[in-house]
Amino acid sequence: MASLQTIRNFSIIAHIDHGKSTLADRLLEVTGTISERDMKAQLLDQMDIERERGITIKLQPVRMEHNGHVLNLIDTPGHVDFTYEVSRSLAAVEGTLLLVDCTQGVQAQTLGNLYLALEQDLEIIPVINKVDLPNADVEKTKSEIINLIGCAEEDIILASGKTGQGVPEILDAVIERIPAPQGEPDAPLRAMIFDSYFDEYKGVVASVRIIDGEAKKGVEAFYMGTHGTAGIVDVGYFMPKFKSSAHIGTGEIGMIATGLKNIKDCRVGDTITLTKTKDQTTALDGYKEIKPMVFAGIFPKEGNDYAALRDAIEKLSLSDSSLHFEPEHSKALGHGFRCGFLGLLHLEIVQERLRREHNLEITATVPSVAYHVKKSSNENIVVTSPLDLPDPNHIAEIKEPWVKVDIVTTQETIGGIMTLVQEKRGEYVNTEYLTSDIGANRVILHYNIPLASILVDFYDKLKTISSGYGSMNYEFLELRVADVVRLNILVAEEIVEALATIVWRDEAFKTGKAIVKQLKETLPRQMFALKIQAAVGGKIIAAERLSAMRKDVTAKLYGGDVTRKRKLLEKQKKGKKKMLAMGAGKVDIPPEAYIAVLKR
Ligand code: GTP
Repeated sequence: MASLQTIRNFSIIAHIDHGKSTLADRLLEVTGTISERDMKAQLLDQMDIERERGITIKLQPVRMEHNGHVLNLIDTPGHVDFTYEVSRSLAAVEGTLLLVDCTQGVQAQTLGNLYLALEQDLEIIPVINKVDLPNADVEKTKSEIINLIGCAEEDIILASGKTGQGVPEILDAVIERIPAPQGEPDAPLRAMIFDSYFDEYKGVVASVRIIDGEAKKGVEAFYMGTHGTAGIVDVGYFMPKFKSSAHIGTGEIGMIATGLKNIKDCRVGDTITLTKTKDQTTALDGYKEIKPMVFAGIFPKEGNDYAALRDAIEKLSLSDSSLHFEPEHSKALGHGFRCGFLGLLHLEIVQERLRREHNLEITATVPSVAYHVKKSSNENIVVTSPLDLPDPNHIAEIKEPWVKVDIVTTQETIGGIMTLVQEKRGEYVNTEYLTSDIGANRVILHYNIPLASILVDFYDKLKTISSGYGSMNYEFLELRVADVVRLNILVAEEIVEALATIVWRDEAFKTGKAIVKQLKETLPRQMFALKIQAAVGGKIIAAERLSAMRKDVTAKLYGGDVTRKRKLLEKQKKGKKKMLAMGAGKVDIPPEAYIAVLKR
């Protein structure tokens, strides 16, 4: 067990692709934690899908030894969806490397995490990365960093994960600048969980920072937030392979094989103590149960894949405690699941993992947010599906989530972005310049905007408008009153439940029109004229008419006899009338038509 004075705990804050994984590999090499020969490229990236896509969702925590010190490196996930996890991982360390790619400059996601690190008073070591590249703009990047965190120029380390330049300096700075952890070795155990995963053999494994006391094998642990208990199966570190240890002590970062079977009992932010000391200590601050923000239905493309989808989702949720799901049946798409996600990237990751790791063809419906509805009876409910929205007469008030968005972009593209955000109901807050230099042209635009506005295609539009230079970060702000209504779609005068959506009242017309138009294009013609309508309450707000298919009943008649032809046509007309009278208005809507609308 290391003495407190020789421990340094740190993380890396970086935007996607700024070189976090590559630099972590170099740190492992230089400290001799892993030999160059054993170094598989990007060893720390765990999931295959991450490696394939080159996105690190999370690096594994790792313990290195260097110049008589123990250095614990943990990850701060780069993406906004995981803000709470980021805040807990930052709470586990005393310092962080702020890694900025000098061909890209500071990006929005880096800012989001940096603000969190500053709030927690962490020591920040600025590192400019990829200085080996010919298009490196070190001076500009320096000036952006100085402007952001107010450091001295000589505090900034120039590095390259590729050539290894600057790596020894980074290690020295970690030891010299980051304070040693504090804590009470003799107090009852308090370990903060900042991450967890499911291991087939070990069960749920928690990444923890020991705040006070020590953790060891065999004792019974008590989870102060969930009130669960379980005997600790094993403790140890990743170096980078797992290494069992007799115990992990105050100030250290390590792993606890918890003996728990369900990852939902091992929540990020919870405090682990021992059952026998649970009344002698208090839980650490900051424990929060994280609620999903974005909802979508996930259905198998082929109906008979339902069982496979269920197995796959259950398996995914073993390792992903933020994934919520419940069975849902849609007339159109069959049996599937209504799923709750932390945000858009989380939704995308889950879909990708179902496709790639489980080989499933799936259909996901348009994502939506959760509406908080206060009923006239004063009852409060959370609505994530249009079908659950109560009748307007029973609604006192509906609130929807708003987020704070930071957009980093170039000055030339501000106009276009402002228009986009305004169209999407954004509320301008202010503009900041990334550097104070004359001629500097990168800015941060701050807005408040409904979460629903950025769910579909906002990011793609932002990228197009900014020619790829823009980046964004968002964070939950508050719930605000929303004037939303349920938009019903009627085909042959019948409401098609699966096509209902929740929309802002003043956009109902536009959306309704778009949907009926799309349906007109995708629905097959019937023997009778088909009405396709959009309605809010009892009021039709948009309509299209798909004309009847006319079977050429006279085709078999060659020439001549006009009366016979007329007779046949009359007969056809009567037949159609009869069909309609018999309720032939019932139309089978093919899945393609649903999908076209649901994936709008
Ligand atoms: P995510 O995993 O998406 O978060 O990215 P990351 O920040 O871990 O970046 P990663 O280490 O995967 O590097 C991204 C790309 O940049 C890779 O193609 C690396 O080979 C390259 N790269 C990383 N560091 C350097 C560097 O110092 N110089 C050069 N020239 N390329 C680098």
